[in-house]
Amino acid sequence: MNKAIIGLQWGDEGKGKIVDYLSENYDLVVRYQGGNNAGHTVIVDDLTYKLNLIPSGAIRGKVCFLGQGVVLDPDHFVTELKSFKEKIPNPTIYLSSNISLILDYHKKLDKINESILEGNSKIGTTAKGIGPAYQDKVGRKSIKLSDLSSTDILDSKLNNIKSFYDPILVKYNEQPIDLDEYKKFLSEKYKDLQDLIIDNNFINNTYENKKILFEGAQGAMLDLDYGSYPFVTSSNTISSYIPIGSAINKSYETLGIFKAYATRVGNGPFPSELSNEIGDYMAEKGFEYGTVTKRKRRCGWLDLVALKYSCVANNTKELCITKVDVLNDLEEIRICKSYNGKLYDQINFASSNILENIDLDDSDFKKFKKWGDLTPMKDYKSAPDALRNFIDYIENYLDIPITIISFGPDRNETILK
Ligand code: IMP
Repeated sequence: MNKAIIGLQWGDEGKGKIVDYLSENYDLVVRYQGGNNAGHTVIVDDLTYKLNLIPSGAIRGKVCFLGQGVVLDPDHFVTELKSFKEKIPNPTIYLSSNISLILDYHKKLDKINESILEGNSKIGTTAKGIGPAYQDKVGRKSIKLSDLSSTDILDSKLNNIKSFYDPILVKYNEQPIDLDEYKKFLSEKYKDLQDLIIDNNFINNTYENKKILFEGAQGAMLDLDYGSYPFVTSSNTISSYIPIGSAINKSYETLGIFKAYATRVGNGPFPSELSNEIGDYMAEKGFEYGTVTKRKRRCGWLDLVALKYSCVANNTKELCITKVDVLNDLEEIRICKSYNGKLYDQINFASSNILENIDLDDSDFKKFKKWGDLTPMKDYKSAPDALRNFIDYIENYLDIPITIISFGPDRNETILK
C-alpha cells in the first residue's frame, strides 16, 4: 500500500528522518505541497543532510518527484541539489512541469506583508516567498516550469506581473521588477533544470504499479484550511491534498508523525505552550531551532486535543512518535488531555479566536513518571514501563496504534512496535 507521511502538529515532527527510514521499501518518494519553507535534517552514518525541497528518500537513492502543488524557488533548488550531489552524486529527481515558481519579488512581498501587519497579527513567516507565490497561483499569474521554454509566454507573464506589482514594490521602497534581469535569470535556471522537468503523465505511466511514499511538509496544524487561520502556511498540508498536489490518483494510507511534546515556530495560538524553564529545556535538549530560519521554537507539552483533530483531518491509520529521548530526564512528564476541563472532541482549530481564551490548569494534564535513559532500548519489550504507560495512554486516547518510536536523530535510533 502507498503511504503518506504527514506531520500532525505545527511542523518539525521529524518527518525527514522517518521518510528516510521507510523509503527503503518504496520505489518513488513524492512531495506534493510547500516549498523551501520546509527543513529536514537527516543523519545517516555520521553524515548530516539538511534538505528543504529534496525529498529525504533521495538519500537512499530512491527516485523523487516534486509535484504540481509545490512552489519552487529555482535558485534555492539548484543550490540545494548541487550541495546534495557532493554526498550522493547521481540522484534522480523529477520536477512536474506544472510547478509554480517562487521569484525574487515574492520574497520581497513576503517581507512587505509582514512589515505592515501590527504586533501580534504578524504571522512570523519563513520569509521565503511562500504566501505570495501561492497568491500568484490562485491569482493566475504564476510562472510555471513549463513556461521556461517559451519566450513569448514568459514575456507576456512577466509584463503582467510587473504592471501588477511594481506600484506595491515601489511604495515600500523596493526596486521595480527589471524585466531583462528576470529573463536572464530564468533562462539560466532553465538550462540547469530542463532535464529534470517532466509531464505528470510520465510519472503516472512509469510508476503505475510501483510503491509510492508521499512526503508531507509542515504540519496539519499549519494547514491553510484546517490550521488556526491566519497563523498557517499557504498550502494544504493534510493528506487529502495529495491527489491534487502530486497529480497521482492512487490510494494511500496515512502514517501521522508527532513529537512526544509540541513545538511551534512563528506566531499563533499554542494552548499547551510552556513559557518556563521546562520549555527552555525542551528547546535546548531537542535542538528546537528552525532549520530554515534558525528561530528558537516555542515548546510545550504534547497536546492530545489538537492531535486528535489532526488525526481525524488526515484519516490517520497509524502513528509514529518521535523525540521521546528529549523527555528522558524530566522528573514529571505531562500530556494535555483537555482544554479547561472539556474534552473537545470536535473543536474547530481553524478559528484562532476559539483558542485564544484557553488557559490550561493542572486538571487538564495527565502526569507520567520519568523513564530515564533509552539507549539500552533495543525493541519495545525492553522499553521502560513509564514510557510504555505514556505510549498506551496516547494510543487509547486517539484509538490509533503507534507503530514506530523514534528516540534519537540517527536512523538506527528507531524501533518498530
Ligand atoms: P510560511 O510558510 O513561510 O508562509 O510561514 C507561515 C507559518 O508557517 C509560520 O508560522 C512559519 O513559521 C510556519 N512554517 C512554515 N514552514 C514550516 C516548517 O517547515 N516547520 C515549522 N513551521 C513552518
